[in-house]
Amino acid sequence: MRVCSLFASRSCHIFRRLQQNTLVSSSTTIAAVRRSVTCNEKSGYYVTTPIFYVNASPHLGHLYSAVIADCSHRYKQLQGFNSKFATGTDEHGLKVQQAAEAAGKQPLTFCTEVSERFERLFRSCSISYTDYIRTTELRHRQAVEHFWSVLWNKRLIYKGSYEGWYSTQDESFLTPSQVGDALDSSGNEIKVSLESGHKVEWMKEENYMFRLSAFRSQLLDWLRGNPKAIQPERFQLAVLQWLQEDLPDLSVSRQRSRLQWGIPVPGDANQTIYVWLDALVNYLSVAGYPDHHERWWSVAHHIIGKDILKFHAIYWPAFLLGAGLRLPQAIHVHSHWTVRGKKMSKSLGNVIDPLEHSRMFTTDGLRYFLLRQGVPESDCDYTEEKVIKLLNAELADSLGGLMNRCTAAALNPAQVYPSFCPQAFPRDQGGRAAAEDYRMLEAVRNLPFVVEKHYESMHFYKALEAIGACVRQTNGFVQRHAPWKLDRTGGKDQRWLDTILHVSLECMRVYGTLLQPVVPEISDKLLTRLGVRPDERSFETLDFLPRLWQRDSPFEGRALGTDTGVLFSRLESQKFKNKKSHFK
Ligand code: MSP
Repeated sequence: MRVCSLFASRSCHIFRRLQQNTLVSSSTTIAAVRRSVTCNEKSGYYVTTPIFYVNASPHLGHLYSAVIADCSHRYKQLQGFNSKFATGTDEHGLKVQQAAEAAGKQPLTFCTEVSERFERLFRSCSISYTDYIRTTELRHRQAVEHFWSVLWNKRLIYKGSYEGWYSTQDESFLTPSQVGDALDSSGNEIKVSLESGHKVEWMKEENYMFRLSAFRSQLLDWLRGNPKAIQPERFQLAVLQWLQEDLPDLSVSRQRSRLQWGIPVPGDANQTIYVWLDALVNYLSVAGYPDHHERWWSVAHHIIGKDILKFHAIYWPAFLLGAGLRLPQAIHVHSHWTVRGKKMSKSLGNVIDPLEHSRMFTTDGLRYFLLRQGVPESDCDYTEEKVIKLLNAELADSLGGLMNRCTAAALNPAQVYPSFCPQAFPRDQGGRAAAEDYRMLEAVRNLPFVVEKHYESMHFYKALEAIGACVRQTNGFVQRHAPWKLDRTGGKDQRWLDTILHVSLECMRVYGTLLQPVVPEISDKLLTRLGVRPDERSFETLDFLPRLWQRDSPFEGRALGTDTGVLFSRLESQKFKNKKSHFK
């Protein structure tokens, strides 16, 4: 039995209703609710990152898109979904052609080298993609050719001529209102895209045009009928606003004489397919288009940065509608990272190399920082001091400190999951537990629902905030009862001490389970130390503190894991000051 796709929101909803009616009297009920919201069909989930341009090396922003998608993929798997996760590289177009020329390399050799750099980065940062696509692959070329032919046969593509502005850096056509004046580094007057600041050039050539203008009302209907099609809401509103403006037909090819590095237009060797049409089809190529895409295509979710919203929220849906295909279930947009308040750029020399920084702060450290600090709605700023401060406070001190305290050999010489004593901690107050302790249990019991809700909407920072608040409560619980002061020679004190440790470990088990999508290595270390087996780590079966409800716990009495190492080592800012660094 699999949890159906409605699980999170529906189960949350059902649970809240039950809670309001005070029907939820035990965690058995919670588990039952979770299990009852199931469906027989194997549920699927398909998440994609944008495919990355290979004109330059990967930077922090690229890793951010990939970490968001990875977290979402891991989360769905832990919920019991069959999840597919695609990433890869965008290798055609003028920008890449020029970069290969500048490097004095054959385009394909150049692309392979940079694409492999992305792959290496992703593997080393635990990006658990299930498919890595390169637009120079044959399977992709066939998908693009087929897609083009469908649009052509439906007369949605016609031969015309384009005259207007083009930004090679953005691989984008612009209307006059999107262009402004600027000076280049030598003081020459140039025209730039108002949105990206990149230089634009006037071009005039014969090419193929797509009837984009014919899709305005269908696009409006889609967005009005699906208020969550583009998330967060501010981006959906931005797209609705764009749709009120001019929507001219779109040039979808370039003359072969200017752009050789791309897929030729089927039936016209003098034209090359526009790199964005080529690139967007990658999502279908991975899904198995044109013959076997339905299963995955019906559950597609795109993760994108805000700079490529127009391509994904206007061009792509229009192409798909034209080709008679479904639209993606959702487009999740994230904002950008700046560095010390400035946009990352080669000329400023402030581009963050994610591989270097994942080595400095560990892979999980960097993942945690990006997801804890990144807010989809607004840009976020990256500085090494912030990373160090946050990771030391939340991973090393709070979570790591809690684990050390509750697994310490001094308190638990037998190194087993201690027993819970119902008399010391009765379900209703009256034992040695304090009112705050019951409030903590309530918060931890609700935590999976809170976290799932935030994971579902890609508000990872809110989920981590909620987990962090519970970790603080558990630290407070341990501090309040100071188990190290209790008499450890048997008797009532010993039972109470064991109970304190049992409850703390149960809390830690919940935190470790819920943190898996964000920090897979740290969670694994934590759960292994608690003796939690790999088959006991899913969200579906997470059952907090069954002993409080007089049910058996599979963990009580079980040997703890033998690795007593620290969960996350404190980072010393001094150590990073001597490195090639952005400390100033
Ligand atoms: N090749 C296109 C995407 C085609 S998808 C069919 C492209 N590539 S990119 O390499 O320029 O960007 C890939 C992703 O990195 C985008 O989601 C973009 O928003 C993201 N980022 C680029 N700079 C960024 C930051 N400074 N911060 C966060 N993400 C950023 O666009």
